[in-house]
Amino acid sequence: MDTIIVTMPREAAQTGPQSDAGGPAGMTPAEALEKAGEILRSGGLVAFPTETVYGLGGNALDKEAARKIYAAKGRPSDNPLIVHIADLGELDELVSEIPPMAERLMEAFWPGPMTLILRKKSIIPDETTGGLDTVAVRMPSDPIAAALIRAAGVPIAAPSANRSGRPSPTRAGHVIEDMRGRIEMILDGGPVGIGLESTIIDCTEESPVILRPGYISREMVAGLLGSVSLDAASTGPMKEGERPRAPGMKYRHYAPKAALTLFEGESGAVAEQIRMRTADGLRAGKRIGILAADETFSNYPEGIVRSIGSRERAETVAHNLFAVLREFDDLDVDVIYSESFSSEGLGQAIMNRLMKAAGYQIVHV
Ligand code: TXA
Ligand code: MG
Repeated sequence: MDTIIVTMPREAAQTGPQSDAGGPAGMTPAEALEKAGEILRSGGLVAFPTETVYGLGGNALDKEAARKIYAAKGRPSDNPLIVHIADLGELDELVSEIPPMAERLMEAFWPGPMTLILRKKSIIPDETTGGLDTVAVRMPSDPIAAALIRAAGVPIAAPSANRSGRPSPTRAGHVIEDMRGRIEMILDGGPVGIGLESTIIDCTEESPVILRPGYISREMVAGLLGSVSLDAASTGPMKEGERPRAPGMKYRHYAPKAALTLFEGESGAVAEQIRMRTADGLRAGKRIGILAADETFSNYPEGIVRSIGSRERAETVAHNLFAVLREFDDLDVDVIYSESFSSEGLGQAIMNRLMKAAGYQIVHV
């Protein structure tokens, strides 16, 4: 299949139909949105930017579209999709109940990087929710995402737009790499802002539970609702027989091709360990990637060293993490040694993704 790729400046989605900034496919942003809406309504797939990561969108009410999403990603179909809406008015059609805690969360954090699990209505096909009687709903703040949902006129089911097992895409280039030839259209809105997937909060029980940490941190949710718990799958590996409440959390996501080992401890000791192992690896003829921070980058004279951002500004680390993991894939490194980061606030999401990428291989020094 020929994939239409269109550059979409964010301002164009905001200014609407008058804008005439042209994309390389010879379409204005307004024409591109119209075309994308048409594709979605007729059962096709369109990848688009959100504030968290790029999504791979299909009509959430169309079971054939859901099947196509699973096929394009190479993803098991028991892993449910997030349904994206642009206006609160769309919610009543999709869910049977909106508990007070969900109302407060929506008021505080929508549109934005938060997904709520709610009881679904039967209009949402089983294919979209992997057979569950609940549905994940999110209202993204990215203007291109919002404009696309409105152009389609239907809610959009969208997982991250990566092939299953690869790090989530944070730039259009990542989506093109993984999805070109597999879907009808890609909207290129440049790099995303946050870089890690949305916080998922289950609102179907008595009290809220974070199933996947994200930019909306545990502290932010607790500040609003008083208390919130974390599902075990978001902090450590699953034990025998345990099942995470977000089915997707059981997969070894975000996996770079090379084995990643995380080092935890005092920064001097961590650097010493990583330097030693790097020297050993290089002597054995291996290609070694080192994932460090701005503050500690210069501790590593050997290996392919990348800083993913500043420890003082966790949002820079979140923003670069997946892009650097993909870069190590492209560079064909055999091994990645990574420093650890604080797990306060946004750090909880950063460490969740890093620990998963490492398959929970953590060395305490
Ligand atoms: O930021 C994001 O959330 C991005 C953008 C595109 O919006 N989307 C995303 O989707 O990360 P995906 O499919 O990669 O991750 C969805 C996660 C999976 O872990 C899945 O198991 C969980 O949400 N999920 C979906 N529906 C659920 C449900 N009804 N109950 C529990 N977990 C659910
Ligand atoms: Mg994903």
